[in-house]
Amino acid sequence: MQMETTAYSLLIAFLTALAFLYKLSRLRQPLSPKATTSPNISISTTIKASSIIDPQQRQPHCSASVSVTKEPDIPANWLTGSPIFELERRALFSKKWLPLSHTAHFPTPGSYQTLTIASFPLILIRGKDSLIRGFHNVCRHRAYPVTSREFGCSTVLRCRYHGWSYNARGQLVSAPHFGDVHGFEKGENGLFEIGVWVDTVSGVLWGCLKVRGEGEEVDARGKSEREEMEMVTAHGIRAGCLWVGGSTAEGRFNWKVGLSKTRVMMLLGLDQQKQEVSYLQRLRNLNPFQQQQPADSTHLFPNTFIYTILDAQCWLIIRFLPTTEDKTGIRYDLYSFTHANERTTQSLLMSMEEKVKGIIRDLEAEYQMRITGDTESMLSTLDAETAESQSRILSLLQAHAKLERAQGAEIYPARREPRMNTQYEQAEQLCRDLDCGDGGGGGGGGGGGGEGGRLAW
Ligand code: FES
Repeated sequence: MQMETTAYSLLIAFLTALAFLYKLSRLRQPLSPKATTSPNISISTTIKASSIIDPQQRQPHCSASVSVTKEPDIPANWLTGSPIFELERRALFSKKWLPLSHTAHFPTPGSYQTLTIASFPLILIRGKDSLIRGFHNVCRHRAYPVTSREFGCSTVLRCRYHGWSYNARGQLVSAPHFGDVHGFEKGENGLFEIGVWVDTVSGVLWGCLKVRGEGEEVDARGKSEREEMEMVTAHGIRAGCLWVGGSTAEGRFNWKVGLSKTRVMMLLGLDQQKQEVSYLQRLRNLNPFQQQQPADSTHLFPNTFIYTILDAQCWLIIRFLPTTEDKTGIRYDLYSFTHANERTTQSLLMSMEEKVKGIIRDLEAEYQMRITGDTESMLSTLDAETAESQSRILSLLQAHAKLERAQGAEIYPARREPRMNTQYEQAEQLCRDLDCGDGGGGGGGGGGGGEGGRLAW
């Protein structure tokens, strides 16, 4: 009996040891590659890439039911596909409120600025009524840019090609050869207006590229956009700032690579910049208001970063401006607070060009590394901030693609087809007969300058 008990105890001990060893071996197994390399993207629907990039497709490949998956639902051509970039233009850049400029650029009526966002050419101009308005910088005649100058001042913008002129409200005031054409209405041929919102505290001009309809309210900002605007003012950015300077440099990479404020800050060496400023310099720059504000950075989704550089008493805005799926401009603008030391801000500006070139080299190398592997390696080892941005972008693209599928056609919020009729065609013929062809006419008023070609708008 005692022997039986002993054997039984040994058997139990043996089985327990076996179970322990089995558990130990499970714990020591390496994590699966997916667990170690997947970006921090949490997508809960099973809508696939093919349903995003083919707006004509009515039926998604998968069922409409929502399921939870840990797999990133990122299309294989996320960083390289022209259809993805076009969808980004429609779904993101045409709809989201974006920081476009600052009131420092518009001191007097007629002050204007041109800029291009995701290949949408825009013009911002202060009117005689002091309001700053925004328009697509696309002449209603033949879709050339009304002006190619980056900055200027004129309350009338005259297109250099055939002389159509617009006032600061975007209204067509003169159209040679079209004045007597029966049925041609100047009132119907003004510039296409976009939404502009001026934050009077920070002086930042926000714009929404969606073409405004007749009498449509400007203030259609969402909750997230209002929060972003509040973040800007919380960083001490004020309307009284002065523009120190800025420029754009272009690189061969997809704009979505490296959307991280921390990373850009590190590449800019902003921390080093702080240490370079002497103690005396800091004393000279002291500003009671700024003493209460921490040096910080803000990501204004999707493509803009703002950095306050307290020691130098200035702030910097950096924007990633894609022109194609593999070409992106980095635009930087430096603004100073009123108490800033000019020598300090100028030396900071001079160093910016090299720093931005360094960022571009870094991002070009990373882009090449990411596009040479499969989708998983394309998104592996993304830092949390960049991964979060990819996730938000993807959600917006999916939502817009869903609308397009429901409508059965692509939706272009920032585009409006020009009105054409027989009389218009006759006037066009007259214009051609009188040899006022493309590129003719002198630049006058706000127009002229630059080599702008017809816009694929
Ligand atoms: S007048 Fe502008 S394109 Fe002809």
